[in-house]
Amino acid sequence: MIDMRPRILGLDREVPLLDGRRVPYVNLDNAASTPPLVDVVRAVEEFMPYYASVHRGTGFKSRLSTVAYDQAHAIIGRFVGADLTTNTVIFGKNTTEAINKLAWRYPLGPDKVVLTTQLEHHSNDLPWRPRANLVHVRALPDGRLDEDDFDHQLARHAGRVALVAVSGASNVSGFLQPIHRLARKAHAAGARILVDAAQLAPHRRVDMRPDDDPEHLDFVTLSAHKMYAPYGTGALIGPKDIFLHEPPEYRGGGTVDIVTLDEVHWAGVPDREEAGSPNVVGAVAMAVAARTLMEVGMDAIAAHEEELLAYSLRRLCEVPGIRLYGETDPARAHEKVGVIPFNLEGISHFLTAAILGYEGGIGVRSGCFCAHPYVVHMLHLDEDEAHEWRDQLLAGDKSNMPGMVRASFGCYSNSDDVDRLVEMLQRITRGDYYGDYTLDRATGEYRPRGFEEPLEDFFLLEREWSVASAE
Ligand SMILES: Cc1ncc(COP(=O)(O)O)c(C=O)c1O
Repeated sequence: MIDMRPRILGLDREVPLLDGRRVPYVNLDNAASTPPLVDVVRAVEEFMPYYASVHRGTGFKSRLSTVAYDQAHAIIGRFVGADLTTNTVIFGKNTTEAINKLAWRYPLGPDKVVLTTQLEHHSNDLPWRPRANLVHVRALPDGRLDEDDFDHQLARHAGRVALVAVSGASNVSGFLQPIHRLARKAHAAGARILVDAAQLAPHRRVDMRPDDDPEHLDFVTLSAHKMYAPYGTGALIGPKDIFLHEPPEYRGGGTVDIVTLDEVHWAGVPDREEAGSPNVVGAVAMAVAARTLMEVGMDAIAAHEEELLAYSLRRLCEVPGIRLYGETDPARAHEKVGVIPFNLEGISHFLTAAILGYEGGIGVRSGCFCAHPYVVHMLHLDEDEAHEWRDQLLAGDKSNMPGMVRASFGCYSNSDDVDRLVEMLQRITRGDYYGDYTLDRATGEYRPRGFEEPLEDFFLLEREWSVASAE
């Protein structure tokens, strides 16, 4: 197994517990955001003294920053195996922004269909709804994609499917989608394919493959904060021609070659798609993360996570009353990334997550993970039940909101993290926790009564700052 722990920042930091003790934090919420790589933070610190405006500046620092920004595009292209003679890397905020951009720029007409799946994060669903006839391919009862339904929908809408938009891996169940097989089918039907790789890229090698390969991925999106580089960057990678036909949806500085009072000549890609002053620091950070992941080797990372996932599935079965969703067989751990959704019998997912945090120093996430239709499906809720909680939620009461607890791994997670999770879950099922938790109905969150978190001992913006000198 690889040991990435020395390369991740902050793993030695202790966090406060409800009983006053301080313990090392166990972050099992990597599917949401990962901590930074040491390499990334160091590179940013090294770059910062030279940071200056890109593209339009003429001084040395501007030229250096411009080269760094251009190289960042090339490195991200390499990270996903894109041919940059025909494809472009467009930096933006995150995957959500990247997919929204594509939804505005991809040629779609009123009769066109975008085929997506029931497994998607809202960010690969909602952007398409106003832009096309969106068809959701069903999930099987265990949460896997129903590929027969995929074939059926592709045939049913033959000639009208413009794009297949699928996630590479689910942020709820961790299931890997057969993206290259789906690409082959999409291309044979005359469509292109977008892979939302927000959840895939930190765990598996993403390879767009040559443009003329039937299994080529046409578009890929990434979020750097899930790839150990949380500096506000994401990327959309795809064919240049899609962006060259129409003006960009965001217009302004940096997007043009020439402007007169009557005319605009748009710049080439990626400039026309990156309106305004870009996040150069974020791009540098993301590129360093991509380089580090490539150097460590995505196959080594995948093997490490697979082993850890198999270990976790075995250990979690020791918790009385646990219900694991999706794939639970350790022998099939290779079919998913390190994301484990579960519930404890008779205990709200919100409460379980709160106790893990306040009494175990373990960070997880609970709820529906921005994938409501999929979670409702995974929980096998019937329509009446789903309606009932939706009505309550719309009335401002989240207390009965269905959901799950999600533990998710990064490349640095290890068996000690899993052991601490299992031990705490066993305590919770025995009722062996001491906080008096009260529910905030508006948010669904549980908080221990009378506990003031000592944030000022750690980091708090509203406090006295010592004035740093540049020495
Ligand atoms: C599969 C998937 N797609 C898209 C997103 C959205 O990513 P971001 O919030 O970085 O835009 C997420 C975030 O959790 C995700 O897991």
